[in-house]
Amino acid sequence: MEALITLLPGDGIGPDVAKSARQVLDAVGRKFGHQFQFDEQLIGGIAIDDAGDPLPAATVASCEAADAVFLGAVGGPKWSDPNAAVRPEQGLLKLRSTLKVFANLRPVRIYPELVGASPLRPEILDNVDMIVVRELTGGIYFGEKTRDSESASDLCVYTVMEVERIVRIAAKLARDRRGKLCSVDKANVLETSRLWRDVANRIMTDEFPDIELETLLVDAAAMHLISRPSDFDVIVTENMFGDILTDEASMLTGSLGMLPSASLGDSTAGLYEPIHGSAPDIAGLDIANPCAAIASAALLLRYSLGLNQEATAVETAIAAAISAGARTADIAAEGEPRLSTDEMTAEIIRGLT
Ligand code: IPM
Ligand code: MG
Repeated sequence: MEALITLLPGDGIGPDVAKSARQVLDAVGRKFGHQFQFDEQLIGGIAIDDAGDPLPAATVASCEAADAVFLGAVGGPKWSDPNAAVRPEQGLLKLRSTLKVFANLRPVRIYPELVGASPLRPEILDNVDMIVVRELTGGIYFGEKTRDSESASDLCVYTVMEVERIVRIAAKLARDRRGKLCSVDKANVLETSRLWRDVANRIMTDEFPDIELETLLVDAAAMHLISRPSDFDVIVTENMFGDILTDEASMLTGSLGMLPSASLGDSTAGLYEPIHGSAPDIAGLDIANPCAAIASAALLLRYSLGLNQEATAVETAIAAAISAGARTADIAAEGEPRLSTDEMTAEIIRGLT
């Protein structure tokens, strides 16, 4: 097949890991006979420097014309003045809302050889296999903001439609997995959460009676994620809770450098990004872990291009590299050799079959 992919390396280690994702996609193209064309565009801090805009019009046009978008990371100390008029993160948020990718899928998969890299006891990590479905284009991230010298406010709004569509996506995923959905909210305090819970209960009773529904308050969910992570199958939650809980969940795998994400809307065109940030302290050093980016490229193959076999081949190659002992610094145990970003990527490409 032919596919057009917009590549947004962004800031910090974004370019390091975007390069890895591109190399793997190129290798998949050669191996399986596909033509992937890449159009590289600016986003985030580098776009502010170049064009004064974290999401230039040319970037939006390229993304809208593409079959899929791959993003590295945005942000860094150079652009983090809290009083700056424009910030790199605004580019990413605007891109998510422009592309209407409201469903952010964050699978949490444990590689058995890496249990030692997690701060949790190995027996707690047995059988952990969950996917967090984070609502991505609503809630407090996108509500009206105000600021004066004495106060500030961020408005949190959810509509029935926004909750219905994300709960349906999560419930359908649960149906193809272990049939369990956990909806996370803060219904004891927040009105938006009470709406969330009512809608989730209704959709699940009316349309998914076969799926087991658990409801948790977000503070309790944060605790259960650590105390009994293997009980979770699919978690669905609002934008900010999903942001926080997935950084927490990444520690089950031992490193933020392992977790991929796919952001989808009503069309097949999606946005794919590792969940980690731009890690400016190690930018350009060729030591960042490319696994999250490469696993995001696998999700791109699966969800936007419909290439399930190729996606599985990439995921299998990551697991094989890990299993063969390939480690970047973030997941290496003491005394283990540390591969560079490029070496780790080459190791994964070698295992593509
Ligand atoms: C994420 C990131 C972003 C978010 C930032 C960079 C705006 O933390 O994708 O999880 O909060 O959504
Ligand atoms: Mg985050």
